Amino acid sequence: MEFVFTPEDHKAISSFVYAEAGILMPAGKAQLVYGRLAPRVRENKLTSFADYIALIEDDQEERTLAVDALTTNHTSFFRESHHFDHFIAEVWPALEQRLLGRGRVRIWSAACSSGEEPYSLLMAMFGTDRGAAQRFARTDLRILATDLSTEILAAAKAARYSQETAQSIPAALRSLWVKRDDRGAEVHPLIRERVAFRRLNLLEGWPMSHPFDAIFCRNVMIYFDEPTKERLQTRLADQLAVGGMLYIGHSERLAASIASRFECVGRTSFRKVAA
Ligand SMILES: C[S@@+](CC[C@H](N)C(=O)[O-])C[C@H]1O[C@@H](n2cnc3c(N)ncnc32)[C@H](O)[C@@H]1O
Repeated sequence: MEFVFTPEDHKAISSFVYAEAGILMPAGKAQLVYGRLAPRVRENKLTSFADYIALIEDDQEERTLAVDALTTNHTSFFRESHHFDHFIAEVWPALEQRLLGRGRVRIWSAACSSGEEPYSLLMAMFGTDRGAAQRFARTDLRILATDLSTEILAAAKAARYSQETAQSIPAALRSLWVKRDDRGAEVHPLIRERVAFRRLNLLEGWPMSHPFDAIFCRNVMIYFDEPTKERLQTRLADQLAVGGMLYIGHSERLAASIASRFECVGRTSFRKVAA
């Protein structure tokens, strides 16, 4: 190992990332912690994790970089595509009517990582009709996309991906909504302009006051302990309109205490039925 990294150092980093982001990094994840933070230790020209831990005690900027390095940002376009299929078949038709009748539609991609999730949703909504996107450009449709990591949000806003990443967009949508060049692939402005990216820690206060018609909160709760999951799910339920949809990740479950507020309408897909 290039840097000294003791079990006590691991414990200190675990407590730090749990306090900052609710993320569990038990002893079995020591290798992962080392691999993700070693570049930060090197960058700061330190020789041990103990020195790095001392550094993040006072250096707010470095704390942010440490949390960014420790989070898992894995995502892809049309990941768990059954959620998009369900949304388009069962939810979107009524929302579309509401928008065309000058109503408001709000969707939240919570823990959006590098943006593939909200962009996939918009591509699915607009389909292969660019005229539809132009019509919706004049309606009150917004997708709020949030994440804890500032670095990943910068990538999401840039909306530039490798050719390989863009490959998981269905071909008919890709040819319309993604511009390819020799440096990669870029999402079309008509899609990008519907998304507002913001930094938000799911464990802290939420500034949003209006209810959402759908929330995608996928593949982030797996990193949290049971009390944190339950608290988060209660808040997500509070933030949804009655009739609104909550989509969660494939290995995530609803806590028993909030299950009665939802009806399960598909795989990891829940409709809010009671306030
Ligand atoms: C594995 S990605 C999931 C991305 C996307 N939702 C999907 O399913 O493909 C998890 C994301 O959760 C974010 N995250 C972790 N802890 C968070 C927290 N406390 N608040 C907000 N976002 C958090 C990470 O930065 C990361 O981008």
